[in-house]
Amino acid sequence: MSDIEKAAAALLCGELVIMPTETVYGLAGDATNAAAIAKIYALKGRPQFNPLIAHVPDLDEALRHAALPSSAKKLAEAFWPGPLTIVAQRRADSSIAELACAGLTSVALRAPSHPVAQELLRAIKRPLAAPSANRSGRISPTNSEAARSEFGEAAPLILEGGACAHGLESTIIGFEHDQARLLRPGAIAREAIEALIGPLAAAPVGVHAPGMLSSHYAPRARIRLNATAPEAGEAYLAFGSTAPHRGLSLSETGDLTEAAAKLYAHLRALDALGADIIAVAPIPMHGLGEAINDRLKRAAAPRD
Ligand code: TXA
Ligand code: MG
Repeated sequence: MSDIEKAAAALLCGELVIMPTETVYGLAGDATNAAAIAKIYALKGRPQFNPLIAHVPDLDEALRHAALPSSAKKLAEAFWPGPLTIVAQRRADSSIAELACAGLTSVALRAPSHPVAQELLRAIKRPLAAPSANRSGRISPTNSEAARSEFGEAAPLILEGGACAHGLESTIIGFEHDQARLLRPGAIAREAIEALIGPLAAAPVGVHAPGMLSSHYAPRARIRLNATAPEAGEAYLAFGSTAPHRGLSLSETGDLTEAAAKLYAHLRALDALGADIIAVAPIPMHGLGEAINDRLKRAAAPRD
């Protein structure tokens, strides 16, 4: 049996699988099986049931689960398969378990481009619910080793897919009728989306998603933002320059795409050095900088 066949068989029995995607590794379960969804929440240790993204191979499959307004279809045609998640009105006849949508009348859909994820979706012929494969509140894994280390002995079958090309979660756009909102900045820059469908409204206030909690994506060390240089004893995450001793650079040339891809792996590596504080260089706010700054702000937020 190939690894994909093994993974598909496990998923059809309600087991979980860690699957690579082009953004981050996901903890996947059969989205039509409420018991599998419950296992995802339990293994992640999510404090409450929060809605999950259902992964589908393509737009045709997405249309079985949600009614997409024309601007959502336009985005799907432009960016799928790829790191875009669309939240839209769930169809009454969708096979996705209500628990995956946390009882909401909307559903989050994404067609990932990673070849292993595509192969798995086409083998199982069901949507896969998959949040990032990390314990709740922690840094998302961008390679299989990081995913394994999150769960240790409890780790389910892991499909190897190399390092994630984007390294940052998908951009989430929510649609109410034809009104589009940026619910989470991510691997596709706001500018690229607005170029197609016009200005995006802001996300509604209040916590709607774990990734929107103020403390999230957190390493063990505390984070100090907008640090032009490290202070004594601090580890340093540089940008646009070479890294000092006990430091790593997100991009020596100031390339935001490279920085996004390296962000989580570098935070994990600096955390492993054991410093109490990781100081982080200022990152510009344009393009992927919006998503990078969003994650850093949450990683730096006070924790309970
Ligand atoms: O790149 C990604 O999106 C990765 C990979 C594995 O695909 N997945 C990911 O999933 O980041 P997760 O569960 O960590 O984040 C899903 C986000 C959450 O913030 C959740 O609240 C939001 O999507 N979401 C899901 N369904 C929603 C809905 N119906 N309305 C609003 N937000 C929703
Ligand atoms: Mg996550």
